[in-house]
Amino acid sequence: MKFKRMPIEAESPEERGYTSLICNLAESSVTDIQYQDLKFKPQELTLGYGDHRGLPELRALLAQEHGLKSDQILIVPGAAAGLFIVAISILQKQSQFIVQRPNYVTNIETPRLIECEMNYIDLLFEQKYQFDLYKLTILAKKKPALISITTPHNPTGMVLTEEELLECIEIAERSQSFLLVDETYRDLAFHNSPSLAATYSDKVISVSSMSKAYGLPGIRIGWIACKNRRLMELFLAAKEQIFISNSVLDEHLALHFMQNKKKFFNPIKKHIDQNFALLEKHINKSKNLEWIKPQGGVVCYPRIVPKINYNQFYDVLYQDYKTMVAPGYWFETEKRYMRIGYGWPDLKQLQNGLTYIEKTINMLNQ
Ligand SMILES: Cc1ncc(COP(=O)(O)O)c(C=O)c1O
Repeated sequence: MKFKRMPIEAESPEERGYTSLICNLAESSVTDIQYQDLKFKPQELTLGYGDHRGLPELRALLAQEHGLKSDQILIVPGAAAGLFIVAISILQKQSQFIVQRPNYVTNIETPRLIECEMNYIDLLFEQKYQFDLYKLTILAKKKPALISITTPHNPTGMVLTEEELLECIEIAERSQSFLLVDETYRDLAFHNSPSLAATYSDKVISVSSMSKAYGLPGIRIGWIACKNRRLMELFLAAKEQIFISNSVLDEHLALHFMQNKKKFFNPIKKHIDQNFALLEKHINKSKNLEWIKPQGGVVCYPRIVPKINYNQFYDVLYQDYKTMVAPGYWFETEKRYMRIGYGWPDLKQLQNGLTYIEKTINMLNQ
């Protein structure tokens, strides 16, 4: 495979340097947690290779939360690694593959590098970013090796209902395909989510992580959940080829967070609710931006209303206002679209960032 760097990574705030920014609305997670706030004091931790499947206590806790068994959970270094492992384990050159677009980059780019037959289901503004189940039914006639969906979705913030999820599962089962459900934003759905997708069928693989909802992308801990033993063996073999095991420090930190999840997660939720209320009020009043209101996650995917020079828009926003959003071209859509991450900045930074977006559009629209 010939890897190439994607703009979403090469131009990311951490690569450009956080200090070059005043308003960072380009993140797709909640605010990063400070290590000292976790009050994590591991005792007698042996820094050897860990259990290849992942720390048993962490797997047990995750399994318990979702009504699965421990051996149906594989801990991996982040959801990105999970998605990569699933793709390289199931797909090969010319495999039929169905995926939503726009999407988080690994969900599209790894199958593309494997040279799969790519079948896209585009989420369109005009269709309120609704997932087109009819199109999935038609494409599934090609008997894809893998169907990939994300809920809550990045970058649109759309969430599948339980009915829709069950229909996806039924379609996958009928076409003898596996269904990958990227549930990295699961705990951030605004309303009750269906159960973890992998609990419904052994054709389903769920991927999630500590990064987006819990503000811990720096510890690189995620997991693959699946009831299919043969697949789990394949995933473990792939993991062992790349990583052998996880960082034991990261695993213990993740365990500590999960053991105290309620305490740590409540303030995160409060912060997101506050920020979302501000964002909603702003966009509803704005003449420059229009959106499809998200149903979960910490991102939305609005578009610019007036016809302006979009390259200039991103340049001015960054150069003059030290403000960043995630531009539409990161997601292979028109540049008038942008992803606004509202869960990472504090309220003031979000407010200022939105004001700078308006000022920039007004200036370019004169
Ligand atoms: C939908 C989705 N899946 C997976 C990932 C990867 O997350 P991580 O590897 O940090 O767990 C991201 C990151 O942006 C994402 O948005």
